[in-house]
Amino acid sequence: MKRHAIIAANWKMNGSLSLIKEMVSGLNSIVLAENVNVVVCPSFPFLSAFALNAENENLQANIYLGAQNVSEHKSGAYTGEISTDMLNEVNANYVIVGHSERRSLYKETSTQVAHKVKTVLSAGLTPILCIGESEAERTAEQTETVLASQLQPVIDEIGIENFTDVVIAYEPVWAIGTGKTASPEMAQATHLFIRQFLANADKNIADKVPLLYGGSVNAANCEELFAQTDIDGGLIGGASLKVDEFKIICSSAKGS
Ligand code: PGA
Repeated sequence: MKRHAIIAANWKMNGSLSLIKEMVSGLNSIVLAENVNVVVCPSFPFLSAFALNAENENLQANIYLGAQNVSEHKSGAYTGEISTDMLNEVNANYVIVGHSERRSLYKETSTQVAHKVKTVLSAGLTPILCIGESEAERTAEQTETVLASQLQPVIDEIGIENFTDVVIAYEPVWAIGTGKTASPEMAQATHLFIRQFLANADKNIADKVPLLYGGSVNAANCEELFAQTDIDGGLIGGASLKVDEFKIICSSAKGS
């Protein structure tokens, strides 16, 4: 089954206008394998600047703009929130939804995340749906139960048929920003569980969904992770703020 590989940069609350400029021109010089998409997700105030720089520099195709979050509401009295229409206006194509920091620090529930995925899809944007277990949950052998409880509300909300337009990022919470990456074997086993969970609803669709791994991915470990059968790229935090390192990570991705 042919699947796109995706390398997504999650800048979190980091970055600057000068890093946007540096990243756009840096990314314009990389050679991407066929079937690889790169997505850069800076903070909201920098989205327009990325789009503008991309246009001015004639940024190569297959490099896209994404947001790190969005409101589940279309518009209205939601002070401080950002809508999908706004993201469309600044030429964003992807949105990270349900990142573990949103779930833990801002108490986003799996039901709310499912609503967000629906809103994102109905605006013609692609959600990067994040799921993952905490260290305590892995130790208690609860990983599969937790992942199922994060996936099922989304399946219920949008229907499995709409997963053709969804990207899933598996990020074990204990590996995010800690330097503790899941071993390639452990990551592959969990990705396989996720694909099989989706396959229980629809095998054909499950084969098409790009499954990204996230959590302390860097230039030294990306190749081995991306070589796993069910790992279709990565969601990169810290290492995506260093242009040269991020370029190496992007260049090592291969579409299947
Ligand atoms: P990290 O973050 O690469 O810094 O571990 C990944 C993420 O949170 O998406």
